[in-house]
Amino acid sequence: MKILITGSNGMLGHDLIEVLKDNHELVLTTSKTLDITDKNKTIDIIKENNPDVVINSAAYTDVDGCETNQDLAYAVNGEGVKNLALACKEVDCPLVHISTDYVFDGTARDPIAEDGEIGPISIYGKSKLKGEEAIQEILDKYFIVRTAWLYGINGKNFPKTMLELAKNHSEITVVYDEVGTPTYTPDLAQAISKLIETDYYGIYHITNSGSCCWCEFAKYIFEIAGYDVNVVPVTASEFSRPAPRPSYSVLKNKKWLDNGFEPLRDYKEAISEYVELIK
Ligand SMILES: NC(=O)c1ccc[n+]([C@@H]2O[C@H](COP(=O)([O-])OP(=O)(O)OC[C@H]3O[C@@H](n4cnc5c(N)ncnc54)[C@H](OP(=O)(O)O)[C@@H]3O)[C@@H](O)[C@H]2O)c1
Repeated sequence: MKILITGSNGMLGHDLIEVLKDNHELVLTTSKTLDITDKNKTIDIIKENNPDVVINSAAYTDVDGCETNQDLAYAVNGEGVKNLALACKEVDCPLVHISTDYVFDGTARDPIAEDGEIGPISIYGKSKLKGEEAIQEILDKYFIVRTAWLYGINGKNFPKTMLELAKNHSEITVVYDEVGTPTYTPDLAQAISKLIETDYYGIYHITNSGSCCWCEFAKYIFEIAGYDVNVVPVTASEFSRPAPRPSYSVLKNKKWLDNGFEPLRDYKEAISEYVELIK
């Protein structure tokens, strides 16, 4: 297949390339070569390349930054996604779009399925929801993949930050009242590579299996890395940040499993592999 990837310099973009490069022809674009907020350019480039599928891994992902740069958040995560949907409509190709657990408000207490009630509480979540809505209005052939708590080799992320801090701190405060599922970008990229072989379009929740709070996750990271760090639990409100986060956003991977795919491995297995790789 000929696959056009946007935001290919990003954390997930990096692993999409690794997973897809041997079996597909890839057209790689970055914010410099294809700024998705430029409607005409987006349509022109997609028409020129005429791909079999577009994977959008571009986004404005700075959750706190979105609170102060609201116009940019809506431009990239809302309008930019709409531009991609319009472009895909023109060449009649499916769009894979990555969305987030932050479209939920955090009040659920059980894993949330794809049809769970939406209610973003941050500008990031609201802007990502705009993108989802635009795709659903414009396209029939789409995969909206909501995922969560991503980490991978090529980017800033929680496990990397923890391992860096552990080098010169014996005590680290970590939030305990936010629960979700850490997800390893190579595992997500593998899942996406399977999804695009099908025409089972729609909204998917795709994460590693299991769940934890940030505090448990940090403790597990230090345990497997062999670091002796005292993790001090704090509430999200004590650890004040500009953007609110859902207190619970575990995603039930229902449609993925209903369509016969195997569950992604447990988050503990994935993080163990990652820590071995980077520590
Ligand atoms: N990270 C998480 O924990 C997480 C959780 C759930 C869902 N997601 C979603 O997963 C996807 C991938 O996330 P990620 O962590 O891999 O993101 P990332 O590392 O921040 O990569 C995003 C990429 O998008 C590019 N980009 C930004 N604005 C653009 C524009 N106007 N036009 C084209 N490209 C643009 C960035 O390029 P520059 O660097 O040049 O700006 C960057 O390469 C995103 O849709 C995100 O919302 C992420």
